[in-house]
Amino acid sequence: MTRLFEVYRDYFPIGAAVNNRVLRTHGELLKKHFNSLTAENETKPFLTQPKEGVFTFDMGDEIASFAKANNMLFRGHTLVWHNCTSEWFFENLTRENGFDRIKTHIEAVMKHFNSAYLWDVVNECINDSDEGGVFRSSPWFNALGSDFLEFSFKTARSVNPSTKLFYNDYNETNKIKRERIYEVIKELNKKEKLVDGFGMQGHWSNFHPTLSEIEESIELYASLDIEIQITELDVSLFEFSDRSHIDAPTAEMLERQAEVYDDIFKIFRKYKKYITGVTFWGVSDETSWLSNFPEKDRRNWPLIFDDNQNVKNSYTKITNF
Ligand code: GLA
Repeated sequence: MTRLFEVYRDYFPIGAAVNNRVLRTHGELLKKHFNSLTAENETKPFLTQPKEGVFTFDMGDEIASFAKANNMLFRGHTLVWHNCTSEWFFENLTRENGFDRIKTHIEAVMKHFNSAYLWDVVNECINDSDEGGVFRSSPWFNALGSDFLEFSFKTARSVNPSTKLFYNDYNETNKIKRERIYEVIKELNKKEKLVDGFGMQGHWSNFHPTLSEIEESIELYASLDIEIQITELDVSLFEFSDRSHIDAPTAEMLERQAEVYDDIFKIFRKYKKYITGVTFWGVSDETSWLSNFPEKDRRNWPLIFDDNQNVKNSYTKITNF
């Protein structure tokens, strides 16, 4: 029986996003097929610093230790974000206290999780609406301006110069947004290389994006002379606007999904020079966040292992080349 990460040994590490429960329910599957882990929530600010100055690392530690014990890479995710960040971070936020809050957080979390070879330093700060400016309106941006970005990367660099520092975002193949991402990273890296890589989240579907949009985007980011990782891959069976509920996926849906996985992994292999990791957002279908997004309690089957932890056709496709 093939092992996914071994099939990809000459290409890039293969990761999964996990929580503490999944380590117990899917431990064997993880050990068999993956050589990189990301904590789904456990290393985000709302769980690592729920109150100012109170750090809680137990949940993240369990995931980091599991990775270490099984010779897997551990990706740090994420330090500065407008979401999954405890309220106190944004209370009476000013330029005076804001940079301090970011600095204290980044230093404590990076020092603690010193086995993380990489951090998504800043997550999703670029506007993905066609209207408006380059940056999305968020408490960080509104109080600190775009300076918070450079400050976060510089702070992270000073904690540990050998840790890879990434910017991570979604809708990363959208023509307008990808130009914004490109310009922002280019600007950040102008004087010194602050951003080592860009995380293309890869929340895709049977319908979107097109293969050429994916290729063009990879080429655009690669032209910045940075690494690229696919950080949160899943392939939804539904179009984003489709909120219908079904009891089980049809054979056609799964076949289409297998073709999509086949095609996108062909692209990933083609660009292996730039791609330094591919991580799925979840392990087997029933662990996916898409059971509650964009529609609550609507099942989706977006991954390459099924509800019984068996391989799907998608798995077979991406391991036969
Ligand atoms: C975003 C974040 C992830 C996670 C996913 C969905 O893309 O980067 O941390 O929250 O959404 O769960």
